Amino acid sequence: MHILVTGGAGFIGSHVADRCVAEGHRVTVLDNLRSGSEANVNPRADFVRMDLRDPGLPALVGKLRPEAVLHFAAQIDVRVSCQDPVFDAEENVLATLRLIEAGLASGMARFVFASSGGAIYGEASGRQDEAHPEVPLNPYGVAKLAVDKYLAAYAVQRGLAGCSLRFSNVYGPRQGSKGEAGVVAVFCKALRAGRAPVVNGDGRQTRDFLFAPDIAEAVSLALARRATGVFNLGTGIETDIRTLAEGLCERAGVDPGAIVHAPGIAGEQRRSCLDPGKAARELDWRPRTAFAEGLGLTWDWFSRKGDAHEA
Ligand SMILES: NC(=O)c1ccc[n+]([C@@H]2O[C@H](COP(=O)([O-])OP(=O)(O)OC[C@H]3O[C@@H](n4cnc5c(N)ncnc54)[C@H](O)[C@@H]3O)[C@@H](O)[C@H]2O)c1
Repeated sequence: MHILVTGGAGFIGSHVADRCVAEGHRVTVLDNLRSGSEANVNPRADFVRMDLRDPGLPALVGKLRPEAVLHFAAQIDVRVSCQDPVFDAEENVLATLRLIEAGLASGMARFVFASSGGAIYGEASGRQDEAHPEVPLNPYGVAKLAVDKYLAAYAVQRGLAGCSLRFSNVYGPRQGSKGEAGVVAVFCKALRAGRAPVVNGDGRQTRDFLFAPDIAEAVSLALARRATGVFNLGTGIETDIRTLAEGLCERAGVDPGAIVHAPGIAGEQRRSCLDPGKAARELDWRPRTAFAEGLGLTWDWFSRKGDAHEA
């Protein structure tokens, strides 16, 4: 199958593109390289450097005629979305709709969208499933939720097999430091530069850390099943930031006593954790990589080439 991966030069999109190539698909990566890097693009994929908002996008999609589009390109910085919600909506909503329209006009039958559990469900008091109230607290989350809803409408109105995968906090090799789970990359880069990690507040705030290649498997399963609807992708396990910092210090051979605590950030989410049960039941997906293993692989990558993807 011919698959167009937007954002395929970025962190998660490049892992997804790698998997598609490994499965024997023809892959075209579209990316403007704003936060991505051409070094991340799989050498067996075709690469088009283009902005999603480029007026030439429909003509390009019409020429490529992809059967599936995996949409990972986005404005990913929550702070930018708060400072400039119009720009955020242009990239994360309007450009996405133009991409879907262009795809439908040229025979696209499947669409997978990189959505976000953390940005849509808000504060957690336990595992959040897909029925959890949707309470986005910033324009970035509103945009993700809007596209999730548009895809539901496209399924009904136009028969598009489109699904939204709501990720928890993703980490792994090639991660930049501005995305939702940038803390792993931030700590890795600090340790690589010989500095101790700086933990905000008491460090007992939790996140559900998901290893990026595990997402690539979920995308593959969703494509094969022509999935529609919303699926949480997470581990269902909460890890606190202090434990993360200690785990990385251990791997870097740094005394955890060197970890620095800075004042807490006002309004920062205290707990975040997704219930991946629906993805297990309907896509047969499970997060395969234990946190200790994923952290080791991530640190190995950053300690070798952590500057390759500076976001
Ligand atoms: N990292 C996480 O924890 C996380 C969690 C939930 C959802 N997501 C979503 O997953 C997707 C990938 O995120 P990531 O962490 O890999 O970020 P990333 O910045 O590494 O990847 C995004 C890619 O999109 C490209 N891009 C951005 N705007 C573009 C535009 N206008 N035109 C063309 N290309 C453009 C960038 O150059 C980059 O290569 C995003 O949609 C993000 O919102 C990420």
